[in-house]
Amino acid sequence: MTQPARRTAILRREAVIATVPVALAALFVAAGPASAGTAGTSGVGDPYFPLAGNGGYDVGHYDLTLRYDTGTGHLAGQAVLTARATQRLTRFDLDLNGLKVTGLTVDHVKADHTRDGQELVVTPRHALRKGQTFRIAVTYEGKPGPVTDPDGSLDGWIPTDDGAFVAGEPQGAMTWFPANSHPTDKASYDFTITVPKGRTAVANGVFLGEDTAHGQTTFRWRQREPMAAYLATATVGKFEVKKYTTRDGIQVYDAVDPREAEAAAPVLKQLPSVLEWESKLFGPYPFRAAGSIVDRAPNVGYALETQTRPVYDAAPGLSTLVHESAHQWFGDSVTLTSWKEIWLNEGFATYTEWLYGEQHGGETAQQTFDALYARPASDGLWAFPPGDPGSGANIFGTPVYARGAMTLHVLRKAVGDRVFFRILRAWAAEHRDGHGTTPQFVRLAERESGKDLGDLFQTWLYTQGKPAGLSKP
Ligand code: ARG
Ligand code: ZN
Repeated sequence: MTQPARRTAILRREAVIATVPVALAALFVAAGPASAGTAGTSGVGDPYFPLAGNGGYDVGHYDLTLRYDTGTGHLAGQAVLTARATQRLTRFDLDLNGLKVTGLTVDHVKADHTRDGQELVVTPRHALRKGQTFRIAVTYEGKPGPVTDPDGSLDGWIPTDDGAFVAGEPQGAMTWFPANSHPTDKASYDFTITVPKGRTAVANGVFLGEDTAHGQTTFRWRQREPMAAYLATATVGKFEVKKYTTRDGIQVYDAVDPREAEAAAPVLKQLPSVLEWESKLFGPYPFRAAGSIVDRAPNVGYALETQTRPVYDAAPGLSTLVHESAHQWFGDSVTLTSWKEIWLNEGFATYTEWLYGEQHGGETAQQTFDALYARPASDGLWAFPPGDPGSGANIFGTPVYARGAMTLHVLRKAVGDRVFFRILRAWAAEHRDGHGTTPQFVRLAERESGKDLGDLFQTWLYTQGKPAGLSKP
């Protein structure tokens, strides 16, 4: 039985995050004197990325039409957003980094707009009523490039020698389309992407078709299930394409840089069996499409779990494919509400790699855990607690991945295999196509196990330094 009285202070403090996104955004509405409470805020209150996302509205759908000239690196775009005002709005922001806005309408009426850093500030001709659905159309162009994240990595539209590697975690979506760029706001997407003939443009979701005319090919994609902006891609390159449908009816589309094809083939071939194995552990695969984008992008240094179709900077190893596939459940379908809670993505995806090894003739998760636990207190693994990385510069650090996974292993030992896997399945099912917070996960684990797990999570997620021993509830 859950004993709320024994819950740790930190979990109680964080419970405020456990609200629906709309309410979350509303919490942070700080009405400036000039705004009189009717201007949407410039961020949703993320402690690490204060300007990410915007207050006052919620996007339901993005319709993105892009034309990318791989020769000059010029991008011309039109973004049509369907949104709903969550308050009366005389003004609101979108996130857009660089690029030039050449036209902007709200409900087909020209709207005033200015730029202020990554904020595109829009003043519609007529104020929007609370609850009103409205349409924002933005035409824009320019030469997109990446942003540099707090940890020094590149993120967003990253040009390559034959196109662009496009990945937006945590903040790069704004480098190629105007967005409400925070994971609290998920939406469906349509993509229509035109590139020179011979190049392929790969986005998320189901491939709807392609047409070539006048030396240009247009690719159409549809992502129906809600998606966070950081998981959108429109990766362009010279790719070898393979399409097939799995036994479970999932439509697979693989796009592979020919220079990576030989190394990638044996790994990509395993995708259906990896997804089947993960479906057995976590419940049904949450999307109707899947696949892999294998690029050659030497200056990137990471892969990203772009929704339905992860993007790899080079041919991946099998454990990376397992990791990005696990994110389809943990991160993509069940999405975090604050970048501080990134362990909900990376701890889970990393633990899935351990489980895969354990069940496929490799070392057991216990052995992986023990090898990590043997590291001295001075090791970088213990530099900060995974549930509280401290800054945006740490969100992809080793403690988030490895100690995040260790936390799940400690949970598994505490509740036993049967309950542990029931917890993972319930988490994926109850938050499917939505959001999940750490306090919600803790509550769910306590509910399924009937144990008070407050001390365990307090120790492993939030306590600075190497935990002294396995915390036994
Ligand atoms: N989520 C990715 C993964 O672990 C890592 C993304 C890193 N992004 C970055 N900007 N460094 O699969
Ligand atoms: Zn990951």
